[in-house]
Amino acid sequence: MSGNPSILGKEISPKADVGAIVEKLLGAYADEWVAGYYYMLTAELVQGPLSGVVAEQFRREAEEEITKHAAAIASRLAELGVEPPREFSRLWEISPCKYPPLPEDPYDVDGFIIAAVKAEACAVKAYRELYDLTHGVDPVTEELAEELLADEVRHRTELMSLLTRDGMERLRRELEG
Ligand SMILES: [Fe+2]
Ligand SMILES: [Fe+2]
Repeated sequence: MSGNPSILGKEISPKADVGAIVEKLLGAYADEWVAGYYYMLTAELVQGPLSGVVAEQFRREAEEEITKHAAAIASRLAELGVEPPREFSRLWEISPCKYPPLPEDPYDVDGFIIAAVKAEACAVKAYRELYDLTHGVDPVTEELAEELLADEVRHRTELMSLLTRDGMERLRRELEG
């Protein structure tokens, strides 16, 4: 946080690794934009009898990733005197989760959902790590990590509930393999 007024970051214990916390926040910010984009894209691409319900769920989650999660992370970064990247391409570069490849076939709705479940699982891991990093030393970021962690667990559950029985089997196999 060099170059910023020394009044910033006083809510953080000197024991905290502020550099690591900021890096995690920036990575999570990028992940939210990447997930938001792919969820919107998925909503446009999916075809078939269940595509309406699935598209609606993906749009809802995309909105939450961008307008709630990315926005909340940007606010926390601002409190620490850090600006998000101004180059859009930088978001993809610094995104730790990026996004699993989308299925070629737009009728492979399970395939789109499986990609999203994997993205949510990566986000859950990232917020769990941010929580561990901030627990007891940066209560403001800790509370944010806790809230976003709960949201991503909910997203993962909501998405998994859209899988067909075959899709659930496929997810199980892919996660084991
Ligand atoms: Fe999110
Ligand atoms: Fe999510």
